[in-house]
Amino acid sequence: MARISVFGIGYVGVVSAACLARDGHTVIAVDVDPGKIASINAGRTPIVENGLSDLIETAVAEGRLSATDDVQYAVDNTDASFIAVGTPSAPDGSVGLVYVDKVCENIGKALMNKDGFHSVVIRSTIVPGSCDETCIPTLERESGKTAGQDFGVGYYPEFLRESTAIEDYYDPGLIVFGAMDEGTAEILTDLNKDLPCKIHVVDLRTAEMVKYTSNSWRAVKVTYANEIGNIAKACGLDGQHVMEILTSDTKAIISKFFMRPGFAFGGSCLPKDVRALRHLANEKGVPAHMMNAVLEANEAQIAKAVSMIESAGAKEVGFVGVAFKSGTDDLRESPLATLAGRLINDGINVKIYDPYVKEAFDEEQPGAGRGNEVIPNLADRIVGDLTSMITASDAIVVGNVYDETVVELSEAAKSKPVVDLTRFNKELVSDGTYEGICW
Ligand SMILES: NC(=O)c1ccc[n+]([C@@H]2O[C@H](COP(=O)([O-])OP(=O)(O)OC[C@H]3O[C@@H](n4cnc5c(N)ncnc54)[C@H](O)[C@@H]3O)[C@@H](O)[C@H]2O)c1
Repeated sequence: MARISVFGIGYVGVVSAACLARDGHTVIAVDVDPGKIASINAGRTPIVENGLSDLIETAVAEGRLSATDDVQYAVDNTDASFIAVGTPSAPDGSVGLVYVDKVCENIGKALMNKDGFHSVVIRSTIVPGSCDETCIPTLERESGKTAGQDFGVGYYPEFLRESTAIEDYYDPGLIVFGAMDEGTAEILTDLNKDLPCKIHVVDLRTAEMVKYTSNSWRAVKVTYANEIGNIAKACGLDGQHVMEILTSDTKAIISKFFMRPGFAFGGSCLPKDVRALRHLANEKGVPAHMMNAVLEANEAQIAKAVSMIESAGAKEVGFVGVAFKSGTDDLRESPLATLAGRLINDGINVKIYDPYVKEAFDEEQPGAGRGNEVIPNLADRIVGDLTSMITASDAIVVGNVYDETVVELSEAAKSKPVVDLTRFNKELVSDGTYEGICW
């Protein structure tokens, strides 16, 4: 069983302190608020949360949970300190790190006087880079010790929802943490090992980013549901009923699908249907902020690709894929075709390797090149030989994955600009001449 100090007896701190104590660990809660300290030590919960009262009463009575404002005592008598203080918005909207930094300062001072190894694990919500740029420098400065060597550091975000916090603690949807050192990774793995959830062990910054991705996604879901609800009501429909039916689709809707960072959406359905829904909303006098933002953001992703390619200074660009996805020759509103058209307009010569579009032209199908309204002389630009296209191009754009191209493209990426909009090779991240649009 571990000995853990929890800094900040707020929502997150008190719930995790109580649950850790219930699991048999020895927990010292630390706060600057004497009222909260007194409350815990009297076996009473300082906040209202379903089930918390009993947990605290029992844990205190059995001697596994206590509270103090004495930082040195808490650090000396535990193996790890969890930091769960608030990170309110600063006036400019940035994350407020004053409380986290203050606790790091206090723990750092205590670490200076402690001989044994100790891990510091941040649980507050902090933006990517905060551990590296704020917490670790403060801890090192105050302790005179080296992070990851003389003491451990981890970032372990909390995802609980108020009112079901204890239930969420024992049945989490997501466990992720970053650790600088094996000792900290071991403590965190051990604490979570019996929970029915996969444990993702990543670097500190990825863990920081996942927390913001989770919260902003929750916010997006609420806003999206509200917008649909508003439009549905204006059409005389029950918005909640519509969303209940939608969310019963766990294949395409409540799933990983369409959640993979990369290039813009396109094709014969999504762009026109988002436009039509926005139009319907406008007709009904209902704001469609999200539909506007979706179309605007999609356009911006195409503009981003244009600038990635043009900044490489290429005059001859080879496209791998132009149809809106692999396995089809459909070019209707393909964002790759839009991209190619823009580059051509800007004076760049574009050649295209797309086996499905080529097949349609080779077989002289009546639908060959169907849906293309933006690429001049499309048939003349289609090539069948990837190797010659790579050789003749100053830069390559990869829009779709075709299995037979992966090895050659991976090799090409070592020596000439390759702008990857789809991730044809999972091993590659932006480096040197290779640039992935979102990785
Ligand atoms: N509330 C949630 O549902 C939730 C869920 C997940 C993550 N988070 C994140 O967890 C963090 C904590 O949130 P919260 O709602 O529990 O905060 P909170 O405001 O309820 O509690 C923060 C506590 O920290 C204490 N504190 C401040 N300075 C201190 C210091 N120097 N030493 C010791 N204690 C100090 C305060 O007195 C307070 O009791 C935030 O970053 C938040 O974004 C919150």
